[in-house]
Amino acid sequence: MTFDYKVADISLAEAGRHQIRLAEHEMPGLMSLRREFGPAQPLQGARIAGSLHMTVQTAVLIETLTALGAEVRWASCNIFSTQDEAAAAVVVGKGTVEDPQGVPVFAWKGETLEEYWWTAEQILTWPGAETNPELGPNMILDDGGDATMLVHKGVEFEAAGAVPATDEADSEEYAIFLEVLRKSIGQDQQKWTRTARSIKGVSEETTTGVHRLYQLAEQGKLLFPAINVNDSVTKSKFDNKYGIRHSLPDGLNRATDVLMGGKVAVVCGYGDVGKGAAEALRGQGSRVIVTEIDPICALQAAMDGYQVAKLESVLAQGDIFITTTGNKDVIMAEHMAGMKNKAIVGNIGHFDNEIDMAGLARIPGIRKVEIKPQVHEWVFDADAEGDSARSIIVLSEGRLLNLGNATGHPSFVMSNSFANQTIAQIELWTKKDQPEGDREYSNQVYVLPKILDEKVARLHLDALGVELTELSKEQADYLDIDVAGPYKPEHYRY
Ligand code: NAI
Repeated sequence: MTFDYKVADISLAEAGRHQIRLAEHEMPGLMSLRREFGPAQPLQGARIAGSLHMTVQTAVLIETLTALGAEVRWASCNIFSTQDEAAAAVVVGKGTVEDPQGVPVFAWKGETLEEYWWTAEQILTWPGAETNPELGPNMILDDGGDATMLVHKGVEFEAAGAVPATDEADSEEYAIFLEVLRKSIGQDQQKWTRTARSIKGVSEETTTGVHRLYQLAEQGKLLFPAINVNDSVTKSKFDNKYGIRHSLPDGLNRATDVLMGGKVAVVCGYGDVGKGAAEALRGQGSRVIVTEIDPICALQAAMDGYQVAKLESVLAQGDIFITTTGNKDVIMAEHMAGMKNKAIVGNIGHFDNEIDMAGLARIPGIRKVEIKPQVHEWVFDADAEGDSARSIIVLSEGRLLNLGNATGHPSFVMSNSFANQTIAQIELWTKKDQPEGDREYSNQVYVLPKILDEKVARLHLDALGVELTELSKEQADYLDIDVAGPYKPEHYRY
């Protein structure tokens, strides 16, 4: 069987396969789901459009979904996050470089924004679906919500009979997105309406994507059921925190090799990602300062022993600045202009709008020097005395640096996140035909039941040699819970 795909270099497949093999050993959750569900094939008939960083760990997720019966098409959810050898190995699958037999992947490191949106469209464009909707995608697995947004905006513009003019877009990226939709709706005026009708659900990976889903649901605009994977405890309290604790220093090291010990590091945001970031930097000996807008998180940071300050107060002190907020306009051009010479600026929130890259580029006299891909020095113009030595270093052009400058989170933590993803896909797919009135999932956003969250954790204990204490029946009765769980009420915060 031949199929369409686009990766950087298919001959990297063997290197990718070696890494996938090692990752499988570190992903006991996914491998155990393959053993548990493989025989029953619960994802038989599911045609999943996946948009999530195309890394080695994601390769193990993709091959878990296909092992459970799904057909899959995949793109990365970021222009810099693909590991080209992983993408190649997934395409080749059990075939050869000459005769690939795996999964159609559309992802390579260093996509342009035009290419990015093209790949997003490819995962939602299945061969034959234009004449037979039965062949189109019927599930989305999303990270950040771009695939979901493409479908929703497509439906909105098809219903309106027009795509807004490009000059109405508030960013270059949105303008490019509008052009992609203009072209696709120009060729097929019902494409997105048809696609939306066939989609049975989406499982969403990250805080930012989940935020978008709740907004759609509140406005009554969500077109299919959604599972918020991020807020499984075994996702956000592990991946966002311990994953970042590993992959932030990894990104900083690979990008700059700067010694973190003794430096002043400013972490903007003290949510799950911020907590992992601050802990990692402190672990390396940095003196960490946190900025927050939420009094609870600010108090937590203070109790954890960090100085909490406004960004403006510490601009001249910081050697390393990291945004982790999932918010926009956090480090602005005027902030960067006030930083000390060779300060390092990076973001690990989902989108690049945390750092004002457009404003930085507009500073009069500024020059951008490429140190290496995804590492740029921005040199400020000479001052009145002719001193032009001052510059800052920006990582991954303001996009998430742990995936742009390194390879993202390690396998073991992603096994937790992706076990939740796999279970969420099984939930949505196997319960799609429940009779009206008995439907567990309507067009709302759900989190997985706690018992499944606990199951994901359980799948990872043996590999770490954890001995779990068992409740006696008497103890369970005393706490008014079941011996088999769930062990905590829904409102428990961990
Ligand atoms: P969160 O909501 O737990 O934390 C964000 C924190 O930033 C909140 O405490 C909020 O009060 C604070 N904040 C908001 N605006 C701020 C501002 N202007 N200044 C200072 N603080 C501000 O969210 P979480 O889970 O920590 O995720 C943060 C971002 O990281 C999201 O975009 C998420 O999608 C992304 N993410 C990235 C990962 C990666 O591998 N790079 C992994 C997981 C999540």
